[in-house]
Amino acid sequence: MINASKVKSIAVLTGGGDAPGLNAVIRAVVRTGIGHGLKVWGIKNGFGGMVENQVIEMTDEYVAGILPRGGTILGTTNRDNPFNYPTMQEGKTVYKDMSGQALNNLRQRDIEALVVIGGDGSLKIGSEFYQLGLPVVAVPKTIDNDIPGTERTFGFDTAVGVAADALDRLHTTAESHHRVMVLEVMGRYAGWIALHAGIAGGADCILIPEIPYQIDAIIAKIEERQQRGRLFSLIVIAEGAYPQGGEISVSRIVEGSHEKIRLGGAGEKLARQLESLTGIESRCTVLGHVQRGGTPTAFDRVLSTRYGVAAAECLLEGVFGNMVALRKNEIIRVPIVDIAGKANNVTANDELLKAGRSIGICFGD
Ligand code: F6P
Repeated sequence: MINASKVKSIAVLTGGGDAPGLNAVIRAVVRTGIGHGLKVWGIKNGFGGMVENQVIEMTDEYVAGILPRGGTILGTTNRDNPFNYPTMQEGKTVYKDMSGQALNNLRQRDIEALVVIGGDGSLKIGSEFYQLGLPVVAVPKTIDNDIPGTERTFGFDTAVGVAADALDRLHTTAESHHRVMVLEVMGRYAGWIALHAGIAGGADCILIPEIPYQIDAIIAKIEERQQRGRLFSLIVIAEGAYPQGGEISVSRIVEGSHEKIRLGGAGEKLARQLESLTGIESRCTVLGHVQRGGTPTAFDRVLSTRYGVAAAECLLEGVFGNMVALRKNEIIRVPIVDIAGKANNVTANDELLKAGRSIGICFGD
């Protein structure tokens, strides 16, 4: 039995891009907290809501029925950073440190500790608040699976499922038209979604940021298939993949965002190049935010629930400054300072990457 004497009042916020399973985490934090006599608050719209004092009291009714819902009932943003926050001065946007105001807003309500459900940007902000003395516990969220210290972030499984389903659909139309079909998936600078979806969806080539590709290697794979009478090919490309000696494809710059660069365009570039070099009709599908929306898979609902319960338990035990994480199917605690600002990428020794090579998938090298 947990000793619920350490804190009496906690808050939860969701930061960064949304991911399927956010609501399941919120529900688990609220239920566990209330179940142990805590008062639980929700901060709306991520760290921006902490500065703007957008705080509501969470109840059992508030979280009823949200387990299968995509998105976040609290709202989120991947722009606002209280330590570098946009304010208007004489008609101009001026970035200021508003962390003091954000902390005051919590103090006013006697909120003693914070659960931050977020990706690398939110974890970094959470870690800065922790170093200022705010008791923080983090939950690793992102479809990209690029947070170190954990084998899985929630949301990843759902995104992979969506991408694998898209590949199945592209397979039949590619085969009918004897085309090369390129599927661009998300993942930022990590190739996890591309790797897992590509294996699940039977891709012929998987291109990831960790392995800059050579166009000749991809063409050789397509031609080798043609010689075997396989007149179509399926390629999955991560948005962060790029050719050897070439550049990453940037689609836009979002000012004020922790990570300003938004990736996009790698798939279309590749499809055009393949068509002009092979003469085979090629098309690109960009999956985009479809990977982030909608209902979480059962795996993500379970993982999110485990994370939410584990985060609330940390607060109840008075253990702060950790991110809850998954390792060997156990929920563990990892110090936030050890992971903030770091990334988790696919390595050359990754078991799934090696399995892909064993079954003849081309990784563009
Ligand atoms: O980190 C999640 C993610 O979906 C990335 O895969 C993608 O690069 C980025 O967010 C897109 O951001 P936005 O929602 O701002 O377009």
